Amino acid sequence: MSKQKRRILVTSALPYANGAIHLGHMLEYIQTDIWARFQRAQGHECYFAWADDAHGTPIMLRAEAEGISPEELIAKMNAEHQQDFKDFGLSYDHYSDTNGEANRQCVETVYNRLNEDGYIERRTISQFYDEDKGMFLPDRFIKGTCPKCKTEDQYGDSCESCGSTYSPTDLIGPRSAVSGTEPVMRDSEHYFVRLSEFEDRLHTWMTSGVLQSAVVNKMQEWFEDGLRDWDISRDEPYFGFKIPGTGDKYFYVWVDAPIGYMSSFKELCEQTGLDFDDWWKPDTETEMYNFVGKDIVYFHTLFWPAMLMGSGFRSPTAVYAHGFLTVDGAKMSKSRGTFIQARTYLEHLNPDYLRYYFCARLGAGTADIDLNLEDFVSRVNSDMVGKVVNIASRCAGFIQRGFGAQLAAELPDPQLYQSFIDQREAIADDFEQRNYQSAIRRIMSLADDGNRYIDDHKPWQLNKQEGQQANVQAICTQGINLFRVLITFLSPVVPFTANAAAEFLGLAVDQWSDLDQPMLDVSVNTFQPLMTRVDPVKIEAMIEASKQDLETTTAAAPQLDLADEINIDEFLKVDLRVAKIINAELVPEADKLLRLTLDIGGATRNVFAGIKSAYDPADLIGRHTVMVANLKPRKMRFGMSEGMVLAAGDDDSGLFILSPDEGAKAGSRVT
Ligand code: MSP
Ligand code: ZN
Repeated sequence: MSKQKRRILVTSALPYANGAIHLGHMLEYIQTDIWARFQRAQGHECYFAWADDAHGTPIMLRAEAEGISPEELIAKMNAEHQQDFKDFGLSYDHYSDTNGEANRQCVETVYNRLNEDGYIERRTISQFYDEDKGMFLPDRFIKGTCPKCKTEDQYGDSCESCGSTYSPTDLIGPRSAVSGTEPVMRDSEHYFVRLSEFEDRLHTWMTSGVLQSAVVNKMQEWFEDGLRDWDISRDEPYFGFKIPGTGDKYFYVWVDAPIGYMSSFKELCEQTGLDFDDWWKPDTETEMYNFVGKDIVYFHTLFWPAMLMGSGFRSPTAVYAHGFLTVDGAKMSKSRGTFIQARTYLEHLNPDYLRYYFCARLGAGTADIDLNLEDFVSRVNSDMVGKVVNIASRCAGFIQRGFGAQLAAELPDPQLYQSFIDQREAIADDFEQRNYQSAIRRIMSLADDGNRYIDDHKPWQLNKQEGQQANVQAICTQGINLFRVLITFLSPVVPFTANAAAEFLGLAVDQWSDLDQPMLDVSVNTFQPLMTRVDPVKIEAMIEASKQDLETTTAAAPQLDLADEINIDEFLKVDLRVAKIINAELVPEADKLLRLTLDIGGATRNVFAGIKSAYDPADLIGRHTVMVANLKPRKMRFGMSEGMVLAAGDDDSGLFILSPDEGAKAGSRVT
């Protein structure tokens, strides 16, 4: 494997500093980490540098709600995030946050160069403004009725019921999600990057073979629609960096977030003496890869390279997008306990299990990845424990007891060893291409060969026979050598297990070229179980704990944001009735809705309720709940909705329909 030594920088997308790390994030971070470790295992120079994404309105509001400064919030989150990452074995070289000095300098450099070269334009635009809060409202902080299908309570950029996109000014009855008041239109000057100036260069870059085909196709569509100028400024109050030369304009968070890749690496250079320019000049031979989720491709394949091109820096060698994580076939759900935080996982299960499972499922494309909990248990148990570790544990005892832990001086079956080494390049290609599932398939097929060898040679039988001692030692030497090859191939995937294996073998297992030399005539150390079986009880416990995470986050809600006060007469206008759910079914075209047929004491009502994420229709049939029975019927795309069912919570924190105590009759009035 004589190859030129490459110099590689990898990044993962920066997690927002206002929330905990969950297993969806970990899918990306594990994918990145396996790749970085794999590159180092080939002898390449590879750095992994990234940061927390610390700016923007949600972080500002979250800090406010907790009664702390944004700086305190991001310091706290940075420490928590890094603890999770370390405990998951991420081998990053540097972790920063985007609010630091290095990032400010990099952002200003990029902006000043863009500005000097005429890529920045100023224009006055009119936007919704919350007079109560004294702030302009991002689209996601405006809610109202969808102009197309008339579903209430939709965000300012798109409708979750009919899927249409629009601008916040199209909403019927817009409201600020921050204060609940009606926003007004207000003018403000904004700064734009003239993206169309980069069209040719972006086109060349994107067709140079560095992007996945699905991503290139998506970009073609964007090009066909025409590249619109990109609004990079935000007004006060905002948590971010000020735009140089202005008193009150801030960079939009998506300007300084990707530049965080650059500044995090810059901090690493300052710590280690690496030469920053070597890595960021346009004609560099170094490589830079950004791993991102499919939801943020737009920012990484248009805005990010355009900013780099316009300011005299290198472009990414490639942007690698992955799909989303689902759990048991569905979107992660807090109420089902499948919205699993990294910390909750770590409190119950070995990080290598998840690293292995994600690896076995990941391909090079942007398809979603399902964490099927049953499959997780059986894959890890049968592959890692039953195949890989098993080879070592079947051989270690004999070597230890019979031969003072000394391996034989020769391999009895050098061809078999060679057949393992012969797979090295194919496996390396798979990892390089991010075709991890294929790499795992090859490795597991070798593990089968290894186990077959031991089955065929039965050291446990020979061990009882006179004069067979040398044979037992030879067979176990062969087995331990095959195990060493496997764990070396797997060392980027399961670093904790690989470390334990390295201790047992008495040599490092992180360089694939070391495998040219089998381990002979040396002694191994005491064998400790390298990985135990996944206990399904622990999975149950993790799911239960994830449901509780939800309760504690709800309980810790900092402020009660109450609606306007009403008097008793107004309240009594609402006719609440106990309703029995006599039928519940999916509405095929609607993401969130279930169609419920409710019995309210003789009369039935048809109601569309946005509770699909929380309930299986079959579980609802026969239950009693409470409905608003005198709500004016509303025509929806799917039919009339004749009332509303009462439920607590929301999509994020989980939805819970209210039920009366046992005995309440359908139709009785609720007062
Ligand atoms: N802060 C931005 C990224 C800025 S990069 C310059 C952001 N943060 S995030 O916390 O929402 O997401 C971080 C990464 O995790 C993104 O790449 C996102 O796609 C990924 N994931 C978040 N949830 C995910 C799943 N459920 N499944 C897979 N990846 C997911 O976006
Ligand atoms: Zn709609």
